[in-house]
Amino acid sequence: MWERMARFRPDVRESEVTPERLYLRRREFLALGAAGAVGALLPRRAAGAEPEPSGAALPVSKRSDLAGGEKPTPWRDVTTYNNFYELGTEKEDPARNAGSLRPRPWTVQVDGEVKRPRTLDVDALARMFPLEERIYRMRCVEAWSMVIPWDGFPLADFVERMEPTSRAKYVKFTTLEDPAQLPGQRRRVLDWPYVEGLRIDEAVNPLPLLALGIYGRVLPNQDGAPIRLVVPWKYGFKGIKSIVRVTFTEEQPRTTWNLAGPGEYGFYANVNPAVDHPRWSQARERRIGEFFRRKTLPFNGYGDQVAHLYAGLDPRKLY
Ligand code: MTE
Repeated sequence: MWERMARFRPDVRESEVTPERLYLRRREFLALGAAGAVGALLPRRAAGAEPEPSGAALPVSKRSDLAGGEKPTPWRDVTTYNNFYELGTEKEDPARNAGSLRPRPWTVQVDGEVKRPRTLDVDALARMFPLEERIYRMRCVEAWSMVIPWDGFPLADFVERMEPTSRAKYVKFTTLEDPAQLPGQRRRVLDWPYVEGLRIDEAVNPLPLLALGIYGRVLPNQDGAPIRLVVPWKYGFKGIKSIVRVTFTEEQPRTTWNLAGPGEYGFYANVNPAVDHPRWSQARERRIGEFFRRKTLPFNGYGDQVAHLYAGLDPRKLY
């Protein structure tokens, strides 16, 4: 991700947009030569000490695969290779520092352009909607990707239930601000609290989820417990974690990464392989767990369901 540091180091190397574990493996690969590397690397995965999903099970009523039959990224990678700057800026930090976040009791305030502003307990919220599991491809702006089984309910159902007024054009989401629970907020690497937003027609598209879990288990803290957003056709930074407030607004909200680096992160942030990030290409991505890069798909492969939302908009603005 963009880091303040990077401003002073314009020569950001590929290693910084490459998962460290794979980067190290590549160095091993180069050092050993291809044959040696394959011998050295494959057995480690094949040995199969993959940890099983853990945590309380969620009552999921329906399952759908929306990732074309691809194998989900192992639980270990989904829960130890994270971006959650409130818990540290290194990929391993969120898992390491997750213990300070207390996801219960937890409320979500709903306000702004709605018929009736209210504050909902997250467990009450979970009971308002049937929970389902959907496997989505996820693409991070840093050119890595995962396939994740998310458990939650459609954002569209939530929006409808909250009865926005006709003035509501956007939905703004806000993460908890509490440096005792989120010690990364003691450093101003970003303007806290983290804020994200969607246009209301994006929010009522059937794809986005408010997720309460992964792999049928409650969300681990590092993945955004107890409730986070999942928008599979956008870069991962739109998927705001540990949400405490949802505000319906008339004006487009200012969003955290757009404020931090307006030349690098837009409001729409639709996955677009044709538009490079100013410091690296977005044409390809590395699926965590794979060695070779694959082509990035427009809208992360969900274009048939969402491209119509952006008809007439400058494709550069899509990013
Ligand atoms: N939400 C908050 N509050 N803080 C963050 O730093 N990082 C974003 C997004 N949501 C972030 C956040 C980024 S850059 C990504 S890629 C995804 O979370 C990563 O989600 P994951 O760690 O569950 O894969």
